[in-house]
Amino acid sequence: MSRSAHPAGPRHADVLPEGHPSAPPADLNALDRKVWASTVTRTPDGVVTVGGVEVTTLAEEFGTPAYLLDETDFRERARAWRTAFGPDADVFYAGKAFLSRAVVRWLHDEGLNLDVCSGGELTTALSAGMPADRIAFHGNNKSVEEIEAAVRAGVGRIVLDSFQEIVRVAHIAGSLGKRQRVQIRITVGVEAHTHEFIATAHEDQKFGIPLAGGQAAEAVRRALQLDGLDVVGIHSHIGSQIFDMSGFEVAAHRVVGLLKDIRDEHGVELPEIDLGGGLGIAYTSDDDPREPHEIAKALNEIVSRECERAQLSTPRISVEPGRAIVGPTAFTLYEVGTIKPLENLRTYVSVDGGMSDNIRTALYDAEYSVALVSRTSEAAPMLVRVVGKHCESGDIVVKDAFLPADLAPGDLIAVPATGAYCRSMASNYNHALRPPVVAVRDGEARVIVRRETEEDLLRLDVG
Ligand code: LLP
Repeated sequence: MSRSAHPAGPRHADVLPEGHPSAPPADLNALDRKVWASTVTRTPDGVVTVGGVEVTTLAEEFGTPAYLLDETDFRERARAWRTAFGPDADVFYAGKAFLSRAVVRWLHDEGLNLDVCSGGELTTALSAGMPADRIAFHGNNKSVEEIEAAVRAGVGRIVLDSFQEIVRVAHIAGSLGKRQRVQIRITVGVEAHTHEFIATAHEDQKFGIPLAGGQAAEAVRRALQLDGLDVVGIHSHIGSQIFDMSGFEVAAHRVVGLLKDIRDEHGVELPEIDLGGGLGIAYTSDDDPREPHEIAKALNEIVSRECERAQLSTPRISVEPGRAIVGPTAFTLYEVGTIKPLENLRTYVSVDGGMSDNIRTALYDAEYSVALVSRTSEAAPMLVRVVGKHCESGDIVVKDAFLPADLAPGDLIAVPATGAYCRSMASNYNHALRPPVVAVRDGEARVIVRRETEEDLLRLDVG
């Protein structure tokens, strides 16, 4: 079946531009399980479904573009992380990847904790019933108001990120008559093999306090002296979209080294370490992510071994996966608007969203895949670039991909693995209305974040 109004589209270009995917997939109608949420499947009549609901029905009901989130998959992934780490460790979901009140409730149900990094995320978490002691508060420049709100709420930990903040949090906690549990975020000097903008533990960057030159040790020294602070651990986050565990190995080695130095100097063994998030997911068929149980096993082994060597008792470990939980659970549904074949170059397929709903391609050169989801097609593969509707030539959603050559305006296409850092980084560029997030489960769909309206835009415009 087809939603297309126009039957024939442009043909596959004879000359492939540089950087094109080497070959089209054997079957354009097949959905690679690696990149699609777990309940996504194609019905015998060719329409793709998620949570048992056809994308054509979802498009009619909720419009496009829309983020369609597979709630079953989200819960399964959250549970898999929780189970893999067990009762002696904590999993803090990184809310920056995508946060809404429904998500907070799912996390709560599944026994996860939550990492927030702004007053807005904190308010969302608290308003949806996440107990404050299961919340960690992050950020390299938390405002005084944010720190006050976090301390007052009684968050389980504030992750201190600078020398100024050590004093600031101690002062605020003291003036509220509280003692705040804190971790100190350090940079361990590890170069994670990822895009420069999402690597965070090499020394030349804004996060954390460098281990190098004794700065982290000095931070601990100062924090331990302050009455308003209860220093419970050391935090390290080495970057994002990481597949190779060796960075975590080096990070754990250095964090445990610091714990040992602290024990030797101050006679205290800090009871916690947090190794951050950053585990990679499959954006395309070329990516091979690790399962949570493999990650948990590797991290537990590394930490236990390092602690044994340093003759320390093993601290309680925590991790902060964001992308690895929510990333694979959603896809963005778009309607094809125009198709522009450029001879000997490529074919541009324009959709009804773009860099306002997915900035990652423009920002990080991120790779995505795409599929025709409102019908199947037996047409030849056509090399395309999927672009948005913004006034910017860098407004690219999928750089190079194959879609069937009979693609036509009105067809629905979907970009998988957009659950993380797409809605959460969405913008109103060109006064675009940010798309809704629709959670689908067991044959039922419900909006968990509604589509923005023009009234929403005008409400902010008070001039
Ligand atoms: N913990 C801390 C302290 C973090 O800074 C982050 C991400 C995470 C955990 C979660 O990382 P994840 O498991 O989601 O990779 N906008 C970028 C990613 C920025 C990540 C910032 N911090 C992107 O779209 O790739």
